[in-house]
Amino acid sequence: MVDQHIQIRAATEKDLPRLVEIFRASRQKLLPFLPILYSREQDFAHLKDLLSRGDVKIGLLDHQLFGFLVRIDHWIAHLYVHPDAIGKGVGKALLDDAKSRARRLELWCFEANLRARQFYEQQGFALVRTTPGENDEGLPDRLYRWVRD
Ligand SMILES: CC(C)(COP(=O)(O)OP(=O)(O)OC[C@H]1O[C@@H](n2cnc3c(N)ncnc32)[C@H](O)[C@@H]1OP(=O)(O)O)[C@@H](O)C(=O)NCCC(=O)NCCS
Repeated sequence: MVDQHIQIRAATEKDLPRLVEIFRASRQKLLPFLPILYSREQDFAHLKDLLSRGDVKIGLLDHQLFGFLVRIDHWIAHLYVHPDAIGKGVGKALLDDAKSRARRLELWCFEANLRARQFYEQQGFALVRTTPGENDEGLPDRLYRWVRD
């Protein structure tokens, strides 16, 4: 069930340090199979670049920033929730916001990321295809798609 105290709004440059913190903490704790390829500074530059050319929404739980979603056209480039706020509805609220402004959405998810696979499948995403590792990390992944009914 989605928490009543969740708010979604557009990210600003002021949010960038917290976005980097969430990105790194979430990957480190919830995706431990991922190699750490980039420094904090590189992650900051990456997210700053996305903020300038994509649609970045943040999820606040009790007025505190705990998650974000980056959308570029119909692609969900990133969806991350801080490990301290997992399972409290922030991810679903961010996804519902993206769905409300799209006819279809697509995303890549690592094969090993069982939590996210279950989450997306529960949220109506269907598996389109798998690859043996056509990504920076060289790990097997899955393309998922959601289409509005
Ligand atoms: C995947 C992720 C974004 C989900 O966000 P979240 O805030 O924990 O998920 P929510 O609390 O919004 O969950 C929403 C619904 O999905 C369900 N759900 C969440 N995780 C689940 C799981 N592992 N299995 C089954 N259902 C799950 C919840 O029960 C909830 O259902 P409900 O609304 O009926 O109660 C979050 O776990 C995360 O950031 N993971 C690490 C980063 C990551 O993997 N990102 C995706 C990269 S492709």
